[in-house]
Amino acid sequence: MAFCTAKIHAATPQSDSTLQVLHWWTSASERKAASLLAARMADEGITWRDAGIPGGAGIGAGKVLKSRVLANDAPEVTQIIGVSIREWADLGFLLELDKVAAANKWNTSFFPTIQNLIQHRKHVVAAPLGIHRINTLFYNKKIFSTLKLSPPENWDELVMVAAKLKAAGLIPLAQSSEPWQVATLFENLILAEGGPEYHRELFVRQNAQAVMDKRFSHALERLRQMKSWMNNPVDERPWTEVVRQFSKNEAAMMITGDWVKGELNDGGFVTDEAFSCTAMPGTGKYHLYSVDTFSMFTNDYSRIAAQEKLARLVATPAVQVDYNAVKGSVSVRRDADPARMDSCARASWNAFAQGATTQAPSLVHRMATDETSKDAIIAVIHRYFIDATVSPSDTQARLVAMYKTFGNNKKQTP
Ligand code: GAL
Repeated sequence: MAFCTAKIHAATPQSDSTLQVLHWWTSASERKAASLLAARMADEGITWRDAGIPGGAGIGAGKVLKSRVLANDAPEVTQIIGVSIREWADLGFLLELDKVAAANKWNTSFFPTIQNLIQHRKHVVAAPLGIHRINTLFYNKKIFSTLKLSPPENWDELVMVAAKLKAAGLIPLAQSSEPWQVATLFENLILAEGGPEYHRELFVRQNAQAVMDKRFSHALERLRQMKSWMNNPVDERPWTEVVRQFSKNEAAMMITGDWVKGELNDGGFVTDEAFSCTAMPGTGKYHLYSVDTFSMFTNDYSRIAAQEKLARLVATPAVQVDYNAVKGSVSVRRDADPARMDSCARASWNAFAQGATTQAPSLVHRMATDETSKDAIIAVIHRYFIDATVSPSDTQARLVAMYKTFGNNKKQTP
């Protein structure tokens, strides 16, 4: 394997201004967003060598990154997000971007949560791209107006809307049974039940008592209730297929992150014309976030100038505006202009700007905990979702046992 890699490198020598970028943006709109960044880099004399690895939420990309680092073949730039940044920085692989941060006044330009995310032991080790809101409910405007439905703001309204859609012969909710997509819906339910503080208690501090709380079993019951609003059976599809179902008017709602908005717009299904967004019912004030970031592997230190250029560029006001408009996310900058955003983005940016008490770090998107516990929690939720014989209390018991093994009540905050 190592021999083979060396050969490839010999055949394609790279100049110091070429950067290989590993990421998981492989849908049409994600590719467009990546191409936009590549074009801006080209303007500055940097060549972007694309290494996009398919798989929503970066499941495949995470594995590829690990094996490439083990084979001494780390890419120069990688989409590493949330707690994973710390994990890689701890191993000493990541380039410190303190000079770029100081020269561009990152400490006053970004929201405090972003600052916190990109730092490790007081050094900046990542450059931020955009903030996704996971607690987003997308609804089909035409279907809603034909049936005289209003966007639901709380659970009871959501149940009512779903019943009316079903009665009209429609599928209320587009959803996949892929584990990360199920867990994304579940963490929305947790946020609706208990707000950001409870969400943190469960997924950041991993408190076993919080798992035994009534709010947890309640969220599980609701997850099962929602299953009757989905395709039967709920098949395991990539998120882009779920988007397609929604944009063909074959399902009336979708609850997930707003990268979906980028994909819908790219396919000609336009915000506030064909569909609109609202927050997941019961989470209107909150922001369940996933922040996209790039980290740089130091390797032999030969690409530092280009790596620093890229880091600076992605966080500039102009790139932030253009990139986030395509990607569906919002700017990481406090000086962004919400008047230039569409209604979904404005709501997201304004909710995030309220500060830490209204923000919740997404479990599924690596903002809350390390890779191993994240994957294990997702597996427990997924098992409950697909197997009707597993009860909420079985699920609670499984998770409690797991938290005990992890060494629960960890005190770190993201
Ligand atoms: C998230 C990431 C987004 C989007 C999504 C779907 O983790 O923040 O940028 O790519 O996964 O794969």
